[in-house]
Amino acid sequence: MQAHYPLDGLTTLGTQAKADYFAEASTLDELEGLLAEATANDWPVHFLGAGANTIAMSHVKGLVIKIAFKGYEVAAAPNGDVLVKCGAGEIFDDIVRRTLQAGLGGLENLSAIPGTVGGAVVQNIGAYGVELAERLASITVYDRAQKVVRVLSVEECDFRYRHSIMKTEAGQSFVVLSATLRLPSVWTAVTGYKDLEMELEARGLTPSTVTASELSEIVRTVRARKLPDPKVLGNAGSFFTNPIISKVHWHELLTDHPSLVYYRLGGGRMKLAAAWLIEAAGYKGHVSGMVGVYDHHALILVNRGGATGEAVLALAEEIIQAVKKRFGVTLVMEPVILG
Ligand code: EPU
Repeated sequence: MQAHYPLDGLTTLGTQAKADYFAEASTLDELEGLLAEATANDWPVHFLGAGANTIAMSHVKGLVIKIAFKGYEVAAAPNGDVLVKCGAGEIFDDIVRRTLQAGLGGLENLSAIPGTVGGAVVQNIGAYGVELAERLASITVYDRAQKVVRVLSVEECDFRYRHSIMKTEAGQSFVVLSATLRLPSVWTAVTGYKDLEMELEARGLTPSTVTASELSEIVRTVRARKLPDPKVLGNAGSFFTNPIISKVHWHELLTDHPSLVYYRLGGGRMKLAAAWLIEAAGYKGHVSGMVGVYDHHALILVNRGGATGEAVLALAEEIIQAVKKRFGVTLVMEPVILG
């Protein structure tokens, strides 16, 4: 365990931050030992994966535990699907590459998403028409309250758009240790997303001729065009979730703003493109000292160098207020605050 530990390099947003204490846990024994020490000293405990969806505040009180559980095991499910059990500390994109290299399709739409397997599970990552929950069989968690390891089925995880039980009161004491992916025995390409369709066409491919590896390359190309590389420009991916509103509210907005970008959901609900709202509120490319809004995509807040978490949150709040005032829609932040 180390004291006064700098966290700047441990999040993709790269804010200047220090934790009172920092340690890594790669086994259950290590995790339990660290948790016992924190309890004995009355330290608050925080968990970190690859920091891809985390805003670290200047001073993080207590103990930050980096989850470093490794592991990659392949097994066959009774119905012929392939089960891949991965440690929570594995880099999710390494798993995507590894499964594709082994000829296993299913994760290609989730290519190039930064972060660990644990982080991917907690926020149910999704991209280009696929959500992680659709490719999961179960997860194992350590329940801090009961001090036991539990296996949770997908149903028990309550996965929804960028949401899982781990984000709620009921799952607050769960630490993800591993995830068992379920990759289909019969693979079909998911190519309905407009950007993918266009790129397929440009390469002379169709949904029935493209391979999983080719689709992965296409997703990587499309993402690289839109999203800044965190190694070059600090960011946490989409900074807000796409808001879901009622049909009545959507209809009012569309009347005033015919170019509004939206997607129809079931049950009379509509999802709006938060990027469109932020751009229309005038914030695309906005600069505020060391933080800003990416000039190629309005949903990405960037650290222009040396920013603090507090400065990032101040800009986020300004954007939330501007969008609320203009459209009556309240944006909700996607990254979690470490502080
Ligand atoms: N748009 C604008 N201005 C912009 C950028 C986009 O008006 O500056 C509009 C465009 O019309 C575009 C629409 O917004 O068609 C949606 O943009 P995009 O296709 O880039 O998707 P997104 O809704 O911004 C979501 C996910 C991404 C995921 C992509 C692809 C959320 C919060 N974000 O982004 O996930 O990669 O779809 O599936 O759901 C992440 O969560 O960190 C993330 C990158």
